[in-house]
Formats: sequence, C-alpha cells, structure tokens
Amino acid sequence: MATLHPRVQAAFEAAKGFMPLDEGLALHAAATDAAARLPGLPLLEVGTYCGRSTILLAAAARAARATGTTAVTVDHHRGSEEQQPGWEYHDKDLVDPEVGLMDTLPTFRRTLHAAGFEDDVIAIAGRSPQVAAVWGKPLALVFIDGGHTDEHATADYEGWAPHVAPDGVLVVHDVFPDPADGGQAPYRVYRRALDSGAFTEVSVTRSLRVLRRTGEGI
Ligand SMILES: C[S@@+](CC[C@H](N)C(=O)[O-])C[C@H]1O[C@@H](n2cnc3c(N)ncnc32)[C@H](O)[C@@H]1O
Repeated sequence: MATLHPRVQAAFEAAKGFMPLDEGLALHAAATDAAARLPGLPLLEVGTYCGRSTILLAAAARAARATGTTAVTVDHHRGSEEQQPGWEYHDKDLVDPEVGLMDTLPTFRRTLHAAGFEDDVIAIAGRSPQVAAVWGKPLALVFIDGGHTDEHATADYEGWAPHVAPDGVLVVHDVFPDPADGGQAPYRVYRRALDSGAFTEVSVTRSLRVLRRTGEGI
C-alpha cells in the first residue's frame, strides 16, 4: 500500500471532516494506484467539505505530477442536509454570518494552504450534476462523497461514473449494507455499480469501497 508522508497525515488529521484514517489510507492507495496506471488523467472528488479527504487525492496527484495528474474537487460548499442547523453534523463555525448559510469554502482553502497542496488541486464550487454535465475528460478516479440522499447519490453516480476511464477507479464512501449502521443511498449506488457489470470490487475498508471499471456503461 502507498505510504502517507507523516506531514500529509498530520494535515489530514488536523483537517475538519468525517473520514477516519484507515479509510483515508485506502482512498490514498486507490488514488496513487489509479494515477500510476492512468498517467495524466485527473482524480476527482465529489464532496470537498473542508478538504480533509481532498488532501489525500492531492498527495496522490503530487506524486504523479510529472505525468500531469491533477486532483479536482467539487462542492457547492453550502453543506449537505445533515450539516444544516439543527441536524446531527452541523458545525456552527462554518456558517457565513453575513449571508446566514453554511460556507465551507474558506475553511477548505485554509486546509489546502496549510497542507501545502494549493498547486495540486482544482476546486470547483458548484452543484455536482451541473459540473458533471459540462465535464469532458476521462477520469482516473471518481470519489463519491457528496449528498447522501438517494436523489444526490444517484445524481452523482449517473453524472460522474460515465467519466471513469477504462481501468479507472470508482470509490464510494459511507457504504452501509446494514441500515442500522447508516443511510442506504451510498450502498444502493455501490450495489448499482456492481450489478451493472461495469465495475468490480477491489477493496473494502469499513464503509469505503473501491471498485475498478472492468466493463462499459454504468
Ligand atoms: C460528507 S461531506 C464530504 C466530506 C469530505 N469528503 C471529507 O472527507 O471530509 C459532503 C459534502 O458534499 C457537498 N454536497 C452535497 N450535495 C452536493 C451537490 N449536489 N453538489 C455539490 N456538493 C454537494 C456538501 O456541501 C458537503 O460539503
């Protein structure tokens, strides 16, 4: 497995976010592997939040910089349903006092600056389906960690999975086969990818599932 530099691990652990270290290491390994096998194709994340997982794609992109690999991360930065005021994952420090809405973009930019990865990441502020609709390049890796409702997870899959290159990688976070452990939308997307015959499972690290494109379609 690709090793994470202690400085990168420290930046990851210092960043606000939801990904535990073991899942992060698996994401980093998948991104490093995809970047090495598919030189020059971007590594794309849906769901930047404050940049915790972005650091890992950035580290993989930096290691493959000689071949032109870049990390891309997409988020409208207004937070998912469960991050809104009154909900379980709300963080009041992420509310823009002027407009009264969540805004994770400033914190994300600080995270990336502190980690030293500003030159390795293209950050896109926008709604995932709108960005996917104008996207025109095959991707080495797509990491889906955006909205966790069926509407959003399905739109992320349908918008981005078609862009995964042959032999490219699809990673889905928060996959919980047992409803007692968490919401089912990412699990349904994961099942759909496998059942399509277009993707084959490569690794399982708790709720993080790494698949590889082994067929056409979605
Ligand atoms: C679970 S958080 C991402 C966590 C991050 N990957 C990490 O490891 O720390 C989900 C993010 O997806 C974003 N999001 C939800 N629905 C979205 C959509 N339709 N388009 C763009 N971003 C979306 C939210 O704003 C939120 O920041």
